[in-house]
Amino acid sequence: EEQKIQKTALGLFPYKGIHLVRGVHHVQHLDSLETFEIRDDDIVAVTYPRSGTTWTQYILSLLYHGDQMTEGSTKPIQELVPFLEENIIQIDYKPSTRTFASHLHLSSIPQGLREKGKVIYIARNPKDVAVSLFHLQNFTKVLKSEPDFNTFLIQFLKGEVLGGSWFDHVADWYAHKDEFDILSLTYEDMIKDTRGAVVRISNFLGKKLDDQTIDTIVDKSSFKNMKEDPQGRRDKQYPAFFEKSGSFIRKGKVGDWKTMFTVAQSERFDQIYMEKMKDVPLEFDWEL
Ligand code: A3P
Repeated sequence: EEQKIQKTALGLFPYKGIHLVRGVHHVQHLDSLETFEIRDDDIVAVTYPRSGTTWTQYILSLLYHGDQMTEGSTKPIQELVPFLEENIIQIDYKPSTRTFASHLHLSSIPQGLREKGKVIYIARNPKDVAVSLFHLQNFTKVLKSEPDFNTFLIQFLKGEVLGGSWFDHVADWYAHKDEFDILSLTYEDMIKDTRGAVVRISNFLGKKLDDQTIDTIVDKSSFKNMKEDPQGRRDKQYPAFFEKSGSFIRKGKVGDWKTMFTVAQSERFDQIYMEKMKDVPLEFDWEL
């Protein structure tokens, strides 16, 4: 069945001001999430797409599901750290500790997360997000391809892409951060000091790890290792959803936007960024 997915048959549909993927997300399930019962020890990694979700899912898998992450394991990390918005039955029956990922905007997140559980929010500089999403959109079969970067960028700035508006996602989460037990990090923090990020994540989750365990997690979740490990690669686990050329784990760099943006596009972007993000206390590294 899956092998028959046609690029033209699937695309985005609007849901509460954001855009989700037909065939992957279901309205009935999304509606039920608002009252989805959160447990005290639940952990949710929240991101706008292309901001380091898979990387964080991988780190959480190593922290909580290490027995499934040994040499030769085949279980996709998408099953160890499933997306809240993709499958309620599976998420509901998982034994504790449940680890989730989510691209949901604040308005669609389970209400219970304000009372229980922990959130790890990862944000990435939106120029790199845009470039990464552009490549993904042309690589996955579930989205309509858009080969022209300028056209894509206009859609991105309007929020008419997978994940909706990057600006709304980040600004809303930051405005309501204090309502959650939350750790916020940037993708660039994770790149600059991966070890420091792993330590912050594990401390936040109340895990005291020895140096050697931390080193192992840093090593296993490195870009190079993850790229080689089919467990962490959606395109290897679900090949029917992706074109043959391309990779879900692509470059892993800060500042790759410079290879795509023209000066005019960058200036336009900066202008919109300054307007929309003026109240958000967040500084990004745009290059390293
Ligand atoms: P690029 O397309 O810029 O390379 P998400 O998982 O949220 O969709 O984010 C995907 C982005 O994270 C991709 O960015 C991908 O290469 C990068 N990424 C995935 N694993 C990584 C790792 N271990 N280290 C650094 N970057 C990683």
